[in-house]
Amino acid sequence: MAEIISVLNRKGGVGKTTTTINLGKALSLLGKKVLLIDNDAQANLTEGLGVELEDGDPTIYQSYKFGSPLPIIEIDENFDMVPSGSELDAYQNEINADITRNYKLKKAIKPIRNNYDFILIDCPPSIGAFTANAVTASTKYLITAQAGSAFSTTGLIEVKDMIDNDVKEEINESIECLGILITFYRPNVSASEATVQQLTEMFPEDLLKSKIRFLTKMSEAPFLGRDIFSHAPNSDAANNYASLAMEILDKYN
Ligand SMILES: Nc1ncnc2c1ncn2[C@@H]1O[C@H](COP(=O)(O)OP(=O)(O)OP(=O)(O)O)[C@@H](O)[C@H]1O
Ligand SMILES: [Mg+2]
Repeated sequence: MAEIISVLNRKGGVGKTTTTINLGKALSLLGKKVLLIDNDAQANLTEGLGVELEDGDPTIYQSYKFGSPLPIIEIDENFDMVPSGSELDAYQNEINADITRNYKLKKAIKPIRNNYDFILIDCPPSIGAFTANAVTASTKYLITAQAGSAFSTTGLIEVKDMIDNDVKEEINESIECLGILITFYRPNVSASEATVQQLTEMFPEDLLKSKIRFLTKMSEAPFLGRDIFSHAPNSDAANNYASLAMEILDKYN
């Protein structure tokens, strides 16, 4: 049965989508069967993987609204995805009014969970109904923290508090922190190193050893609809995501 991992931070632009794509790809390259779920109306994961939908093609929206099977698209060997679209935005108010709202994604994943080793859920930068669905469905959560950004640390703390208090008490007692991942890391830049030091002190158990370096090629990859292993396979960032995948697999041995 797949491990289901929500990738979170309340702050925007801190590497959630990039991490979902590249950690997922790294796990698939290590032979794991991986499904990525785009759980964000921005649909950055869908675009970043180069998936182009035609009018009327199903997205995760139909699974939320009508309970339709997840529309799975194969990207590469061992590497599948579920697309999203902006129609999810309009659904926000409707889902808020539904008392079964937190369980929709969990229900949609159930029939396909056995087909994968890892299911990674890319979440929006907010603590709303779609993030609630992700953490309800997940066995683990991973928080990305942008090195050098105080606001990213605030967003991290808000999400972690929400899970450790509300989510564990009310909806998903067994969810665990898989780790906190530093992204946009620039060695020897003082603001970057300050984040590393702060998070090491605050979260000595949860902070992952792997860090993802800042790399311009990283922001080029989504324009091309490619992961970093296809775009810049020998880059520091590709090596960092490969190390992260191994660090995570080690946790299961
Ligand atoms: N290590 C990195 N080095 C340089 N640029 C990066 C790196 N990681 C991500 N980026 C770029 O930074 C931008 C924000 O990253 P990303 O979309 O992954 O963040 P996010 O947390 O998913 O944002 P949102 O909260 O809006 O969903 C993107 O343009 C991405 O290509
Ligand atoms: Mg994103």
